[in-house]
Amino acid sequence: MEKLNINKEIKKIEKALKQTIKSDNAVLEEASHHLLLSGGKRVRPSFVILSSEYGISPRNEDTYKIAVSLELIHMATLVHDDVIDRSDKRRGRLTISKKWDQDTAILTGNYLLALALNNISSIEDKRIHMILSHAIVDVCRGELFQFQDQFNTEQSITNYLRRINRKTALLIQLATELGALSAHADHKTANKLKRIGHYIGMSFQIVDDILDFTSTEKQLGKPVGSDLMNGHITLPVLLEMRENPEFKAKVDALNPNSPKEDFVYCVDYIRQSSNIDAAKQISRQYLQKAIHLLDELEVNGATTWFKKLIKRMESRNI
Ligand code: IPE
Ligand code: IPE
Ligand code: MG
Ligand code: MG
Repeated sequence: MEKLNINKEIKKIEKALKQTIKSDNAVLEEASHHLLLSGGKRVRPSFVILSSEYGISPRNEDTYKIAVSLELIHMATLVHDDVIDRSDKRRGRLTISKKWDQDTAILTGNYLLALALNNISSIEDKRIHMILSHAIVDVCRGELFQFQDQFNTEQSITNYLRRINRKTALLIQLATELGALSAHADHKTANKLKRIGHYIGMSFQIVDDILDFTSTEKQLGKPVGSDLMNGHITLPVLLEMRENPEFKAKVDALNPNSPKEDFVYCVDYIRQSSNIDAAKQISRQYLQKAIHLLDELEVNGATTWFKKLIKRMESRNI
């Protein structure tokens, strides 16, 4: 088999994505293009390709269709997430709501999701359809839970973990599982890769939630502290509230109409807190589990890439 060059593979997927979002409706095409061209790390397609190396046959059309579909689903959730959070910036550019309007953003999100489904319908393996359609339902549920948990300071850490599992880990776990299945990996291997994806995904969202406090607007491509300002209570805040009743009282008092200074106080408080490190430690534990499982699999052309990507995730700042 040809030696794996992940950068070359991602270029191929970029091309397929561009081709897929072509539309005879100028606004839909421009809005989707706007998001596509603003970058994105293409984490999910990368894991699809890497995981396909663990199959008994080479990656094939289905592998690429899965990679494209997962990125489209991801893009759709980002567009809708920005509508819910009334965000003005994403990946350093204006969001679709801001550049066009909210209705255009909702419709573009629906359009991207519909394109994903369209793409999925041409995948040959029926098992893959089933797994994917279940996953889409679960991702929607995850987002709904996030919406319902806004400003809920009584939620548990278990609650948080369940939510990030649904809204983020699930898509990454699909990437690794379906990537392997598309290349006809045996059941045991596919299952192991699914678990690897789960652990990577959990860590990925925890890091994303930490960066929302510790990064800069320039690096994040959106304002720092956005999560708390939108009422999203994430791991560093949950850890701090658990041991600090005074801080909990401050967060309890926050509501969508609180003055900006109250949010800034809490965001600055967390930035200085040792619970940033505690959250990093939890994220690292998930990655350790992923590495451990990876070591149980055969070494192949994907192993080094996999490890590189995991390392990059641990130290990423975007
Ligand atoms: C952002 O995902 C939302 C999360 C699930 C954390 P990414 O960090 O993969 O976003 P892009 O695609 O690289 O912009
Ligand atoms: C997004 O998580 C998860 C989705 C499935 C959309 P975040 O809300 O943390 O994503 P960002 O930080 O806005 O990219
Ligand atoms: Mg968000
Ligand atoms: Mg975030």
